Amino acid sequence: MHYIKIKAFPHIILLLVLLINVCKSQYYIGDNRFKYFSEVFSWKQINYDFDGVLYTKDEPIQKKLDSIFFRDEIEEKFQFFKQYNNIPIGFEVYNQKVFITVPRRRYGIPSTLNVVPLETGTSPLLKPYPNTDSIDSFVSVYRPRVDSCKRLWMVDTGLIEVPNNFEQKRAPQIIIYDLETDTEILRHEIPMDVLVNGTTSGLTSITVDVLPSKCDDAYAYINDLARNGIIVFSLKQRSLWRISHQTFNFDIGATNFTVAHHVINWKDGLFSVALSDPDNDGKRTAYYHPFISTQEYSVSNEILKDQSADFAKNYKLEGVRGAFSQSGSHDFHSGSKALFYANVAQDGVMCWNTKIPLTTKTTIVVAQSHTKLVYISDLKVIKDEVWVLVDQIPVFIYSQFNITETNFYVHKAKISDLIKHTVCDK
Ligand SMILES: *[C@@H]1O[C@H](CO)[C@@H](O)[C@H](O)[C@H]1NC(C)=O
Ligand SMILES: *[C@@H]1O[C@H](CO)[C@@H](O)[C@H](O)[C@H]1NC(C)=O
Ligand SMILES: *[C@@H]1O[C@H](CO)[C@@H](O)[C@H](O)[C@H]1NC(C)=O
Repeated sequence: MHYIKIKAFPHIILLLVLLINVCKSQYYIGDNRFKYFSEVFSWKQINYDFDGVLYTKDEPIQKKLDSIFFRDEIEEKFQFFKQYNNIPIGFEVYNQKVFITVPRRRYGIPSTLNVVPLETGTSPLLKPYPNTDSIDSFVSVYRPRVDSCKRLWMVDTGLIEVPNNFEQKRAPQIIIYDLETDTEILRHEIPMDVLVNGTTSGLTSITVDVLPSKCDDAYAYINDLARNGIIVFSLKQRSLWRISHQTFNFDIGATNFTVAHHVINWKDGLFSVALSDPDNDGKRTAYYHPFISTQEYSVSNEILKDQSADFAKNYKLEGVRGAFSQSGSHDFHSGSKALFYANVAQDGVMCWNTKIPLTTKTTIVVAQSHTKLVYISDLKVIKDEVWVLVDQIPVFIYSQFNITETNFYVHKAKISDLIKHTVCDK
């Protein structure tokens, strides 16, 4: 008896190990990997530091007499800083700097484009970028992008988006900063002819397509989620054009999911464009999806870059990600070839490995938190990490923040930890 036990034991273990590995490589085992996220920043409310002048509570006095941005219509007076209205929506990371944007969707936002040093502890005060004197150079900035040529790209919508009182302060612009010198290198107006009825509220992100060896020959893809389009900008030609297609539209069947117990019935179309690695000729796949949608599409960047190309003949439906896969920003990771999604409908981060076909089984939630990943407003792959900015904006829109609790976060996680032994790890 004793002898048999000892002989069979290693075989059973081996069989079990084999079985577990087979299962792991085929299927996601379903553990929540939120534990692999570490907190970079968290804020109860947003505060500012203007060259040592701190704004940590409402500031009714107009600081800049010629300023046009800060009228509080309700109180019929100028209000420089109304703390509660300051919601971070976009971010980007460059070396030891984290850019944080606060789009002007209400009055009382003193600075829309800001920076904080990475090593500043839990709840850093935002500093205007590039400096305090530049606050009037930007009207409203959503999700900026750092490119591989050490430049920061953004769209300034030019729009004050106070509900029922939109004010187009100036034409929308593409703005580029040199991150080595923190100086502006381009400001290019987005003309009326690439907008639909002059609508600028949907220009909420920008994707930059460039090779580090050809910095002057860059293209930018700007989403228009309000009017369902991609606006393409060629840096070399200084020209812009618009692509429209039905796959940029929201899907009526994908509305009415909930975030923080609030029903989301928005009609947001094309939200995010994520680029695969380039081949030797600079050819890439551009993956895209509308916000209110469970589908993922793709198109070659050669089609986007060619104003005369036939988009409708060249796009591809990659697949259906499944119920509650509605997502905002997504980004591509070179090492794994996986796409990571800000999955707002499940308070999570989703992934799909582009090396295998997209199905509901190959698109998985790798991390979820109903307290700390509630509405990921922006997501970036930074080297081999996923970074997210969480802002719980449905709470701001439909109810009220508890300002004694943490409302906004930036978290990061190593991609290898998030995907190890899952279907995204191929
Ligand atoms: C643009 O404006 C015109 C006139 O107000 C209106 O008839 C049309 O439906 C609008 N188009 C879109 C796409 O909103
Ligand atoms: C979403 O909710 C609205 C309001 O309750 C309802 O009228 C609409 O039919 C719903 N749509 C879907 C696709 O369930
Ligand atoms: C706000 O949060 C604090 C701390 O968690 C809690 O004590 C308080 O009851 C909350 N207030 C509301 C109105 O929920």
